[in-house]
Amino acid sequence: MKHKVLFVCLGNICRSPAAEEIMRQLVIANDAADSIYVDSAGTYGGHAGELPDARMRIAAARRGYNLVHRSRRITENDFFEFDTIVVMDDMNYEAVHRLAPSREYANRIYRMRDFFTVFPDRTYVPDPYYEGADGFETVLDMLEDGCANLLNTLLQKRSAD
Ligand code: 4NP
Repeated sequence: MKHKVLFVCLGNICRSPAAEEIMRQLVIANDAADSIYVDSAGTYGGHAGELPDARMRIAAARRGYNLVHRSRRITENDFFEFDTIVVMDDMNYEAVHRLAPSREYANRIYRMRDFFTVFPDRTYVPDPYYEGADGFETVLDMLEDGCANLLNTLLQKRSAD
């Protein structure tokens, strides 16, 4: 059975759809597409159905990531669908935690910062929505770092199972 990973931010138009595509490409590059599935969602549904923010699409495309995800709001059902849920900041964490059907399901929630290796003093992935172009590059740097380490963690877990 596939291990399913859900990335979550607020609007599901900047950080989490970028994380989803970065992770998808890493999974493919590591020949793990038959064992790991990725998706993303937001805690706020105001952008449901929309493509990612144009600024993020452009910044991501420069690195070879084609963002075509359509925004959707996370639901309680996602806890039954996904094995690992990775949030971007503490506000996302609180919102997702409140949705968890039980304490046991809440154990599936991680913060992206748990997987940072080259950003040891950053405690969350900042929301780039109200920031300039630099904000998007920083977010992509953090997501590339976190996703690479998350994938290594999952692959190690798979070989231990
Ligand atoms: P994201 O960024 O959570 O990284 O997708 C945001 C996008 C939209 C809004 C907030 C954050 N918004 O309030 O509309």
